[in-house]
Amino acid sequence: MDLRRYIADIPDFPRPGIVFKDITPLFLDRAALRYVVDRFAQLARELRADFVLAAEARGFVLGGAIAAAADAGFVLARKPGKLPRETESVEYQLEYGVDALEMHADALAGGARVLVHDDLLATGGTASALCELVERKGAEVVACAFVIELAFLGGRARLAGRRVESLVVFDSP
Ligand code: PRP
Ligand code: MG
Repeated sequence: MDLRRYIADIPDFPRPGIVFKDITPLFLDRAALRYVVDRFAQLARELRADFVLAAEARGFVLGGAIAAAADAGFVLARKPGKLPRETESVEYQLEYGVDALEMHADALAGGARVLVHDDLLATGGTASALCELVERKGAEVVACAFVIELAFLGGRARLAGRRVESLVVFDSP
């Protein structure tokens, strides 16, 4: 399936000069949505993932669906202050400043096999924070699965040592 048809280029969003990759047309199309969920659920099953871990907000859309289809559990990574119990927290670098992602401290234990998911891999800051949350617990990242990879931003290098799967790769903006 040619998933590029379902990813729209939006010039000058959220700032002038940025071309935003809009994945919402893919979410609207039932065949494309099913295709992506099935691909990643199959990967999760092949790798015997116990859990899918995804970051709010756009990572949640497919993350829960992949987990259910793969017969795995789902772990939420959220922005600070959103989760009600004790959390594990990882800070990561943004273009300007830092942000953080949190998960419940007891969500993963040593030995768990985890598929990390996000809609898009750009600089890799978000995904490497997700991997750190997993690995701090002594759990294992079996793969990182993205719909879109902006290869010109070098995110894959920040995930070195982990398996990275992306369905649509853009080599230039
Ligand atoms: C976008 C995207 C990824 C992240 C990728 O999320 O959904 O999570 O950026 O960028 P990176 O590889 O440079 O970290 P965003 O923070 O815009 O928020 P959202 O998912 O809540 O819309
Ligand atoms: Mg995101």
